[in-house]
Amino acid sequence: MSEPTGKSPADATIAGVRVTVRAPAKLNLFLHVGDKRPDGYHALQSLVAFAEIGDVLSIAPASELSLTVTGAFAAQSPRGAGNLVLKAARALAEQYSRTPLGAAIALEKNLPVAAGLGGGSADAAAALRALNRLWALERSEDELIELARTLGSDVPACVLSRPCWMEGRGEHVSPTVSLPPLDLVLVNPGVLLPTESVFATLNARTGTSAMEPPGRIETLWDLVAYLEDSGNDLESPATHIQPDIDHVVEALHNEPGCVFALMSGSGATCFGLFNDREYAEGAAGRIAQDHPHWWVKATRIAAPDVGTSR
Ligand code: C5P
Repeated sequence: MSEPTGKSPADATIAGVRVTVRAPAKLNLFLHVGDKRPDGYHALQSLVAFAEIGDVLSIAPASELSLTVTGAFAAQSPRGAGNLVLKAARALAEQYSRTPLGAAIALEKNLPVAAGLGGGSADAAAALRALNRLWALERSEDELIELARTLGSDVPACVLSRPCWMEGRGEHVSPTVSLPPLDLVLVNPGVLLPTESVFATLNARTGTSAMEPPGRIETLWDLVAYLEDSGNDLESPATHIQPDIDHVVEALHNEPGCVFALMSGSGATCFGLFNDREYAEGAAGRIAQDHPHWWVKATRIAAPDVGTSR
């Protein structure tokens, strides 16, 4: 199932010829790790969702490719050719155009970097979606996912930017999951946690057959029941490297209305699911006040038809 233009719910506006798209934060509602594969990557199984909060890419026509970065986390974002946004743009142009293509890409970096929220992957995926439209390449979502596989493990899911079941090293994504709107709080203790280091510290693994893709999840309580026997296998190695993660999960658990808390991806960002928006906002306010150096945001996992504009 694939839309002809590779447009996801995170895609926002085309004003004149400028294309603006959101790059939503990715959350692993659970993440199980299996064996290391011959290619050096680990087999994974994960239920992935996307928050309303994210980075924003605004892309205008230009004769050459360029990238400017602004926003709260601009300083930590890789510059120049090392940025996954430019790698994605080059890969798309090389794959689907006979002539060199340009674009002036402006990235508003609102998400912490190396944080388990797939920020760089979300930006790269957003670039693929936006440039597909700006350059009128008319590539399908499946074609963009195929290209995304060459860019990083989280990029295929971020092309979808809607709830999905993830397997392989991250390259197999299936958007057959639907989730209700959910209120959550994201907390990062202000530390960078490179994914490679967390995988290198991993010892215990659940494997990739413990969970089945969910059936109908209509309420928060359905989701919490589904997640009961799952977890994030990377939480223990990440906490070993960065013990503050334990304090983050504890701070979320201690808040009224928090019904589930877990680290996302390879960390260090953790999320708490709340049974009400007011509880989520109250918790975010208190945690931010108690921990001024932590990054704390109340946000939502939107229903699929919500949150397309900004
Ligand atoms: O694919 P990506 O560049 O995001 O992966 C970063 C690092 O995380 C890899 O180099 C690898 O060490 C580790 N990784 C892994 N298995 C995965 C995904 C990532 O071992 N499925």
